[in-house]
Amino acid sequence: MWQTILAGSHRSIPLRARRSSGLRGRFAVPGDKSISHRALMLSAVCVGKSTITGLLESEDVIATAKAMAALGAYVERAQDGRWHVHGLGVGGLAEPEIPIDFGNAGTGVRLCAGLVASTPIKVGLTGDASLRSRPMNRIITPLEKIGARVDCETPGRLPMTLHGARQPVPITYRLPVPSAQVKSAVLLAGLNTPGTTTVIETVPTRDHSERMLAAFGAEITSELNGDERHISITGHTELTPTDVSVPADPSSAAFALVTALVCKDSEITVENVMLNPTRTGLIETLREMGGDIEIAGRRMSGGEEVADITARTSALTGVNVPAERAPSMIDEYPVLAVAAAVADGTTHMAGLDELRVKESDRLAAVAAGLEANGVKVRTGDNWLEVDGGKVPGGGLVKTHLDHRVAMSFTVLGLVADAPTAIDDSTIIATSFPEFTGQMQELGASIEVLSNRT
Ligand code: S3P
Repeated sequence: MWQTILAGSHRSIPLRARRSSGLRGRFAVPGDKSISHRALMLSAVCVGKSTITGLLESEDVIATAKAMAALGAYVERAQDGRWHVHGLGVGGLAEPEIPIDFGNAGTGVRLCAGLVASTPIKVGLTGDASLRSRPMNRIITPLEKIGARVDCETPGRLPMTLHGARQPVPITYRLPVPSAQVKSAVLLAGLNTPGTTTVIETVPTRDHSERMLAAFGAEITSELNGDERHISITGHTELTPTDVSVPADPSSAAFALVTALVCKDSEITVENVMLNPTRTGLIETLREMGGDIEIAGRRMSGGEEVADITARTSALTGVNVPAERAPSMIDEYPVLAVAAAVADGTTHMAGLDELRVKESDRLAAVAAGLEANGVKVRTGDNWLEVDGGKVPGGGLVKTHLDHRVAMSFTVLGLVADAPTAIDDSTIIATSFPEFTGQMQELGASIEVLSNRT
């Protein structure tokens, strides 16, 4: 349970997927990753006990649980699977003795940097090879404006040492990139900053931080001002311990939904999936492609709309996916590219700049994976075009420490003419440890090649 991928200790285990059909039944998707990270962090800065039900127990989120414990919160997993966090209050985080290793988790490390930036403690932050290659200036710039100091061994990259501000100052920050992680880092820093910290967002991104901060009693407002959204938080307000029920992760549900659409004679239902409008771009796109996707039992749960989603085998057609939709499906492009490879005609995906700086350069990794399996693709700086209709398969896909690339190409193997292999299945555990087992239970032909490394 309390394991993270330690930087440098990674051992790859390949996996092979073969053409499968008749995948029918229910598919249990674990808790949402974004909400799980935030629930642990906000619980850690309230005085008292919060309980989290349905926390995603993946390596990324366990790294955040360990981080909150390292910062002094009491974090405990009960026998019934619920997590209890006894927090320390806003500004109460303690200096950890050793650097915190966030493994593969960009959300974990960037939000945690924000959380500690306005508290006068020194925190070392690091991660695995993928995380150490990702850009950190996007959070360093605003956190330094608040008064934190950040030392990096390599400029703008982990490992870094963050010296939290002694006298944090409130800022107004216009997001230079459409990133919920950057927005959230600034808002979390605002919790222990006197006065009002404002983030200006020109492109809407996932709003889980705003919703959860409000639920925990933070003084936060979110207002549309013409085309811009101004999100303001007033610091030094005590948060109230709050119980959080984590809905199923739409980004993990995506793999099951695309599997059902592209495999013959299939029908898969995923229950309790979060339908926050900042996360539903993939469903909209798959429906435009002709996907038979039924949404039933819409209801509210823990401040988010959830529903049960059923997808059935469909004849898909290529579409143009507009750039404006990218933030609402940013993690789903790898699996959309698989649907596009099966679809009749060409699918064009625009506005993919941020895909270049995910767990891998996902635009390049997806294009290379499709090409290795005989699918025709074209790419530009920020776009991807896939000619669908034929998936010869037979390739070996490099996953580059990217869980979503690994799961997407597992799905590709289920529909390709010849079996498809991925070079590393262990990375899937960063977000969805049960993925392979559950796909096998549905009838997917997937073989983990554990003795061949
Ligand atoms: C996340 C935001 C997104 C997303 C990531 C989770 C979050 O990243 O890709 O998986 O929980 O805030 P960016 O904010 O960098 O776009």
